[in-house]
This record gives sequence, structure tokens and C-alpha cells, in this order.
Amino acid sequence: MTSLADQAIRWHEDRLLLLDQRALPNQVRFVECTRVNEVVAAIREMVVRGAPAIGVSAAYGVVLGAREHFAACPDDWVERMEADLQALAQARPTAVNLKWAIARMREVMARTGPGDPEPGLLQAARRLHEEDVQANRALGGYGASLLEDEAIVLTHCNAGALATGGYGTALGVIRSAHAQDKIKAVYADETRPWFQGTRLTAWELLQDDIPVTVICDSAAASLMRQQQLAWVIVGADRVARNGDVANKIGTYALAVMARQHGVGFMVAAPTSSIDLQVGSGAGIEIEERSQQELTQFHEVAFAPADAGVWNPVFDITPAGLVTALVTEKGVVHAPDEEKILALVQD
Ligand code: MRU
Repeated sequence: MTSLADQAIRWHEDRLLLLDQRALPNQVRFVECTRVNEVVAAIREMVVRGAPAIGVSAAYGVVLGAREHFAACPDDWVERMEADLQALAQARPTAVNLKWAIARMREVMARTGPGDPEPGLLQAARRLHEEDVQANRALGGYGASLLEDEAIVLTHCNAGALATGGYGTALGVIRSAHAQDKIKAVYADETRPWFQGTRLTAWELLQDDIPVTVICDSAAASLMRQQQLAWVIVGADRVARNGDVANKIGTYALAVMARQHGVGFMVAAPTSSIDLQVGSGAGIEIEERSQQELTQFHEVAFAPADAGVWNPVFDITPAGLVTALVTEKGVVHAPDEEKILALVQD
């Protein structure tokens, strides 16, 4: 099953089209990118967001950069690309998929012979895109197999088709489980301050005719107390070697609440989100975004001008709170370093 959300990242003729996630759900519009710096801006400004989605977009950004630099200087386009590769990698710091995708494209660049690099790089970007969709379909199946019938689940942020190359991670699990008729109800945290839950997850699930109930983030503990929740299901921006998980701010609080209420805590992520270079969550850079995200709504200020603001947009959930890490290579129960190394190196 594909939906509009599954086509949020498209290569059309000679350009990259990105479904503008800032405008959803009220407006469906695409941002066109023909230059690599437009892709950098789109990632930074959250036209496209979600760890695998920004990785896939960056891969297409490399194609656009190579086209520009090869046209200007066919002999040293690779060297001229370096600043653009750095800008892409730094557009958002927490999701490792961005660096992972750029590393993959660097390998292809290094193997490219003389002549126009665009066809080879485009083929590589398309392959990376397709692999992400396949990984999500596989992990969706593994995650769904952990759910009993009549499952009530809660998800946070948007880890759906919009946040990936297609199909989604956490929402991939929910889509697969829904197709197997295992889902009784899906709750979506609104996910302050950017409202990925209210605006994106709710829209995306309804596109698939999956009923959803939005709650404010602070209602999650009451929900767990009053309903027999089976699982909290979230995605990841980066999983450290020991299984610590960086994900949208509020994920850690949900994991603590889930443990308190005996609810399973599932992290659904492709292995491209696992960073073996980082030993634990302490080594993961947490992005902080603008104060205005907390003090304004649609440019209307609602906080006193002199109030201090701290706006970290991700947090770290310790591995000890994760019941299952679900990847395209299979499920790791109670993840730790040994199990993660075995999974990745398999
Ligand atoms: O700031 P965002 O919207 O890019 O944050 C996205 C998340 O935290 C997602 O949960 C994560 O990237 C996993 S997406 C499959």
C-alpha cells in the first residue's frame, strides 16, 4: 500500500521534490530542489525531517551538487564538493542517518571515473532510497509479530513514511499490525513543540484509514494508568553501541512511564540508525533549536519576552528501558552492546 506520505521524497525528471512538512496537514505542497544548497536549507528548516528521510534527501542532494560542480569544473568536481558534503552533514546534528547516507555517497563518488557523475550517483541515491523502504517493510513485519491481538499502542513524534524513504519505522510496525487486524487503538502524542504527532502522524495514519486519537504529551501517564496499553512504539534518530536511543524530546519520559506501568517499549529503526562509533547516549550530540519554537505560535508570541528558554529537540533513553529494538535484521530484546554488535556484524 502506498500513500501520498510514501511519496514525500521524489526524484522527478532532473530535480528533487520534497513534500513540505511545515505546511501539513492544511496544505499539500512540494518544495523543488535543483541545487544542493536548497537541500541543505530544506533539511535545516524541516521541509523534510525524520532521521531516514533526511538521509535519503541528502543522498539526492549529493547528486545535485555533483551536477553543479561537474558543469563548472569537470576535472576537480570531487574536491569542490567537500564544502557541500560538510554542509549537508551538519544540517542537523543528531540523526546519524544523514552522515551514514553521505558516507555511502562518498564511496560512490570515489569509484566514479571520468565523465558525467550524475547517472551513477542518481542510481546510488535511488538504491539507498529503495533500501530504506525495504528495511522499513521488513522491520514493520518483525515489530507487528510482537503485538498481540487487540493491541492498544501509543506513538510519539512522527516515525512514519514522512520521516523515512517510505512506509515508516514505528508507523511501519503499526501499518503492518493494522493490516493483520491486530490494532485496537492508536494514540499519538501531539509532540511539542513542533507538533509532529498532531500534524503529521495523525494525517499520515488517516491517509491509510487507520483511526488515531491525539493526546497532549502530558496525558500519556494518565492514558497508561487508564488503558491497557500493549506498547509504546517509537523511532530513533541514533542508537548508540550500548543500545541507548536518541529520539524526539519526550521519548525518555515515555520510556520511564512505560516501565512504571508495565507497558512494552519498542524502538523501531533500520540498522542505518545504529552508530557503532558512539559507545553510549552520552556521546550523541543533541540538537537545540530556536527559542521561538517554544515562545511563539504562528509568529504570535505567548511567552514573556525575558523568559529564558531551553529547547533540546531530542533526548536519550537508556538501553535499560528498551524492551525491544526492532530492525530489518530482526528483533533485539533488551538491547545491549553485545547483542547490538552481533546484530550489525551478522
Ligand atoms: O525533529 P524531527 O521531526 O526530525 O525528529 C524526528 C524523530 O525524532 C523521529 O522519531 C526519528 O527521526 C525517527 S523517524 C523514522
